Amino acid sequence: MSKIKFDLEIKFGTQYGREEEEAVIKVLRNNAPTSGNECIAFENSYAEYSGVKHARVVNNGTAALFLSMIGIGLRPGDKVLTTPVTWIATAAAPATLGAEVDFVDIDPVTHNLDPNQLEDKLTPGTKAVIPVHLYGQVCEMDEIMALSEKHHFAVVEDASHAIGAEYKGKKAGTFGTTGCFSFHEQKNISTLGEGGIILTNDSAVFERISLYRSHCTRVHGVSTKYCTLDAEKFPEGKKFWWQDFDDCGYNFRMTDIQAAVGIEQLKKVDQLNQRRIDNADYITHALEGVPGLTLPTVKPYNKHVFHLYPVMIDSKEFGMNKEDFIYDLLNKYGIKVGFHYIPLHYSTAFKSRGFKKGQFPNAEKLGDQLVTLPINPRQTEEALEYLVNSIKALRS
Ligand SMILES: Cc1ncc(COP(=O)(O)O)c(C=O)c1O
Repeated sequence: MSKIKFDLEIKFGTQYGREEEEAVIKVLRNNAPTSGNECIAFENSYAEYSGVKHARVVNNGTAALFLSMIGIGLRPGDKVLTTPVTWIATAAAPATLGAEVDFVDIDPVTHNLDPNQLEDKLTPGTKAVIPVHLYGQVCEMDEIMALSEKHHFAVVEDASHAIGAEYKGKKAGTFGTTGCFSFHEQKNISTLGEGGIILTNDSAVFERISLYRSHCTRVHGVSTKYCTLDAEKFPEGKKFWWQDFDDCGYNFRMTDIQAAVGIEQLKKVDQLNQRRIDNADYITHALEGVPGLTLPTVKPYNKHVFHLYPVMIDSKEFGMNKEDFIYDLLNKYGIKVGFHYIPLHYSTAFKSRGFKKGQFPNAEKLGDQLVTLPINPRQTEEALEYLVNSIKALRS
C-alpha cells in the first residue's frame, strides 16, 4: 500500500522521461546557456501549439503576470480586478506595481470569476481584469472579452492551471492581451521545477515584455566589431555598436536547460492531460451520489485539464467538515488532500488593504468547504480505487 500512498501524495504534475534526460545532457554539453536557441525553439513551439503570434519564456508564472502588467502599461493607481480564489501571485503582480487590486466574486458552479458580477465592479480606472482558469477549466471568455471591448480594459489571463485547456475549441491563454503560464513543479508540465511563459498576439506588448524581461537592454549600431559605451562618441562612418537601457527593468530570464525540457514536455502535454482527464472521470463516477459531496462541473464547451480535482463538502450531509475530512484522510489513510484556496481577502496582505470577511460570499463558501483531491498522470486504477474507497469509508 505504501507505493499507492506515495502516488496519492501531493506530488502532482511533473513526469519526466528519457527524452527530457537526453535534452538536459545535450544542452549541458553545449555549455548550458541562458536565453539561447533552446529558449527560442520552446517559444516557437508553444506559440504554434497555442495558435498565437508571440511567446516569451520567463523564470516563473509570477514573472509572467508581472511582465504582463508592464506590457499593458499599468501605472501606479490603476485598478485591477481579479478573483479572490487564486494563488497570491495573481493579485500580487499588480499590487506590487502600485495598482489598486479589487476582487469579483466567483461563480458557485465553476468556481471561476463570475462574469455576471464583473460589470458592476468596473470603474473608469479599471485598467485590467485577470481571469484565472481555476483548477484547469477556462473562464467564460466570451462574456469577459465582450465586456473588455465595451469598457476598454486589458484582459490578462492567468492560465497557470490550464496548460492545454480549451474553451470552445480555442486554447487557454489566447483570448486576452496576454496569457500567463507557470511551469512550477506541480503544474501539468514543468521546466525543472520553475518556469513560465507569456503568450500574446500584440506585437507592441510583446516588445515591452521582452525588453523589461532583461533589463530593458537595447543594442544599437550595425556591427559587433567595435564597441563603445557612449553613444555620443559614435564616430561618423565607422561601424560600432553600443548598449543602452530604455528603462530600469528586471532579470526574469529562463535557462536553455529548462527550455529544452519544456520542448519535450510540450510534446507530451496532451497525453499527460488525457490521463488527468481519465483519472478525473474515474473519481467522478465513483463518488457520484455520495451525499454531501459536490463534484466538479465541466461546461460542455470546455476542455478541463484537471490540474486539480475540486470537491465541496457539505458538513451536515457528509457528516464531517472540511478540516476533519483533511485530517482523517491523512491520518487514517495516508492521503494528503489540498485546499486551493483560502480566499485572498482573508490574508493579512489584503486585510491590510481594507478587505473584510463577508464581501465575497461564494468565495467564502468555497474557502469553508472545498478540498482538492490528488490527481496526476501517474495514478494507477488501484490508487484511484484506494482514494475513492477511503473517502467513502470516512462516512461510516
Ligand atoms: C493560479 C496561479 N497563478 C500564478 C502562479 C504563480 O506561478 P509561479 O509559482 O510559477 O510563480 C501560480 C503558481 O502556483 C498559480 O497557481
